[in-house]
Amino acid sequence: MERANHQRLIERLRLIDRTRSELVGASRPPDASAQGPAARPAFRVAAERYRSAAHCERERERLFGGLRGGTWVGPPRPIAGSASIAAGACVPIDVPGASLIVTRGADGAIRGFANACRHRATRLVDAPCSPKALVCPYHGWTYDLRGALIHVPHAEAFAGDDRRDLVALPVTERHGVVWLGADIAGYLGGVDGDLAALGLDRSIVWRSRQATPRCNWKLIMEAFLDVYHLRVLHRDSVYRFFLDATTLAEPVGPHVRAVTARRGLRAAPDELDATTDLRVLATPSYAVFPATTVVAHPDFTSVLTVYPLAADQTHYEHLMFVPAERAGETEHWDKSWALIEDTVFQREDLWVCEQVQRGLTAGTTDELLFGELESAVRWFHAAIDAGLGSEP
Ligand code: FES
Ligand SMILES: [Fe+2]
Repeated sequence: MERANHQRLIERLRLIDRTRSELVGASRPPDASAQGPAARPAFRVAAERYRSAAHCERERERLFGGLRGGTWVGPPRPIAGSASIAAGACVPIDVPGASLIVTRGADGAIRGFANACRHRATRLVDAPCSPKALVCPYHGWTYDLRGALIHVPHAEAFAGDDRRDLVALPVTERHGVVWLGADIAGYLGGVDGDLAALGLDRSIVWRSRQATPRCNWKLIMEAFLDVYHLRVLHRDSVYRFFLDATTLAEPVGPHVRAVTARRGLRAAPDELDATTDLRVLATPSYAVFPATTVVAHPDFTSVLTVYPLAADQTHYEHLMFVPAERAGETEHWDKSWALIEDTVFQREDLWVCEQVQRGLTAGTTDELLFGELESAVRWFHAAIDAGLGSEP
């Protein structure tokens, strides 16, 4: 997070925490104005939005896009860490809706192609490699690392129809992340500077995981936008690091910027200077619309992207970025992964999202209810509504 933003939000968090503590100490009834924004009526979302196949299809079409006639249409999404693609490397990356080859030339430029031969669509690369050329295992059509078709055995058999280069896909590096999409800065808008400040361009992806939780994709985004659940769902894992329900969030275009107060905030000096490590005082997080969440833990960063496979099934990917100069601290990062990914995300957040989906699927409710502490969800749904448009 850009330091000025982080510090501004920390000062506001501190005010909320101090005012609330004084009120509790004086046994006075809580004053809503001291708790942050004034309380508003609860926000409701129709249950059908989480269980309707037709609605899911509409979201996929209008919010996520995909490959259309060889062109990528839709918002950018993170697919790898920059450091994972070395010069001369050729890496297959499969995400829902796209199967890519990502290469980095000797010039350092990164390129993306559809991982399919232009003859009869055979998958060309199945594991990371550093080849001189890409040779299709079926009939031997051969491409250079810029995607140009350079050899066709018995080319005369194609009567001039042999100028078929690989289908190029827009793959862009920004802030240490490889994105599927173009104009990442324009898309990130007001959070572009915040993501730059995370230092992911000096980090490596230390570990990653893909999973397919049995729940709607929005439930996962909502779980990451909500810290109301910290004290209960994460009671035995990470609640010990945080203050209860002390969070601030603000919309930034369709995205959301948030900070959650850590217990270290109470011990922080009154004057925060340039040497203060702000990430130990409050954890920044972002919802990058529609389906990427970034969490800046004190010494590493989680980049989480989801994609709807069905109304009740989601593709989930977690990229764990750690500072490159600390990549050798295996035991430390193993512990962090076990706590954050294995326990907090998998066994707590994704588990509870599946429990919500079970409640929805059982048909016992027509709506989900969100209170003031979950109000960032309103902006998320406003961006969804804007993206879906009004026509059916
Ligand atoms: S499918 Fe690739 S060469 Fe035939
Ligand atoms: Fe959580």
